[in-house]
Amino acid sequence: MTEDGSPADRGQLWHGRFDVPPAEALVEFTESLSYDQRLLPDDVACSKAHVRGLHRAGLIDEGELAALLGGLDSVEMEYRTGVLDVVASDEDVHTAIERRVTELVGPVGGKIHTGRSRNDQVATAFRHHVVGQMAATAELVLGLVDVLADRADRSLTGGVDGGPVRLPGYTHLQRAQPVLLAHHLMAHAWALLRDVDRLADCRRRTHVSPLGAGALAGSSLPLDPDATAADAGFPARFENSLDATSDRDFVAESLFVCTTIGLHLSRMGEEIVLWTSDEFGFAVLDDTYATGSSMMPQKKNPDVAELARGKAGRLIGDLTGFLATMKSLPLAYNRDLQEDKEPLFDALDTVRLALLAMTGLYATITFRPGPMAAAADSPYAAATDLAELLVTDGVPFRSAHGIVGALVRRSLDEGIPLVDLVAAEPELGERGVALLRPGAGTANRASPGGGGPEPVAAQRGRLAERIAAERARWSAMLEGADPESAG
Ligand code: ARG
Repeated sequence: MTEDGSPADRGQLWHGRFDVPPAEALVEFTESLSYDQRLLPDDVACSKAHVRGLHRAGLIDEGELAALLGGLDSVEMEYRTGVLDVVASDEDVHTAIERRVTELVGPVGGKIHTGRSRNDQVATAFRHHVVGQMAATAELVLGLVDVLADRADRSLTGGVDGGPVRLPGYTHLQRAQPVLLAHHLMAHAWALLRDVDRLADCRRRTHVSPLGAGALAGSSLPLDPDATAADAGFPARFENSLDATSDRDFVAESLFVCTTIGLHLSRMGEEIVLWTSDEFGFAVLDDTYATGSSMMPQKKNPDVAELARGKAGRLIGDLTGFLATMKSLPLAYNRDLQEDKEPLFDALDTVRLALLAMTGLYATITFRPGPMAAAADSPYAAATDLAELLVTDGVPFRSAHGIVGALVRRSLDEGIPLVDLVAAEPELGERGVALLRPGAGTANRASPGGGGPEPVAAQRGRLAERIAAERARWSAMLEGADPESAG
């Protein structure tokens, strides 16, 4: 032991209860320091709020407060400059901070853990970290939404006839009805905006401070968890110390939101894989977002899109693995809960990199209006429009469906162009033929929210409003001005 009694060379912080040091295998198996160091700035911020609380409670004097705050600042500086030395007996980042503060400021460092347990400490630092990551993730999702909206705008001209780019809309991956490319791209944008909404919702429940809950039961010391929560930037504190130290709903929810973003990116990735194939030919990747083959010189591969698709698997694994960890845990803290960090760190990292790469891919990809229009303009894709024409003349839809279906079958069976059969059908005639002209199908589709030019223009306006509303909401949350940030 050092003269000042600092824990530097006496092993684990909890050594007092034990005669002998722990087994090497225990140290290696139970440590989290190798992956929880990224919580250091969050833990320092929350620890500063804690020591200011100790000072207000009269548990440390002015000089001790200054020493502890200075020590915490120094540890953060050492961490940020890459010179913080950690030792195996630190176990986790929380212990490492206390050990290093004590080395730096002397025995007063031993007061930092007054009225606190690692159980409320880790929950506080982790929530603090996740709240910050959610804002960063929301900004990245909004960046991708911006690119999709921009590509939608650019697709409103430059189509084969100078008008909007159109392509087949698919169901069952069979050509169904033509839609504007802008409509298709905005479909992804709306899904991603729901993810931004989910992030805000999840952030509200995450932004609750467990500090002051102690190991599980609170404290006999005169702590003020409301004040420390506010000091650390939390809009609310816990209501129940058992719940505060053992609740990891916020981790499960955050993992679900990350996974949902991953699922959306995966579906987009699959689409890019299809569209850039020779079979579709709907798009060409920019060289900066394509990869080559080590063997086949002609290849241009969509690896970014494939990995966006593939990484959804690990996100689902992060989520389901953690749900299994949580299942059946009795109140309150159990060491199993240390397994909350790696999956969520992995999910946040994965989603961040995937969002950045997919944003770059969509910003640089070239869409090919010619092949898209050629596929969209198949006369069979107008079958629903033909049936709807009959409906406006009073034919029951089921009969109209039968009439047009029979024409399609005859056309395919007998090799007669559909347009000739439509022209010869008295109830369709020239009005029917007009619907088979390239672009007629999308132009006619005017119902709100649908894929024709009018509803797409209206939709674009609403999308712009929603993007602006999300941005305003997140800046208000970050300034702490939004009532939504209250837990
Ligand atoms: N590293 C631990 C975790 O992440 C900190 C809490 C340890 N608490 C305890 N009672 N051993 O959960």
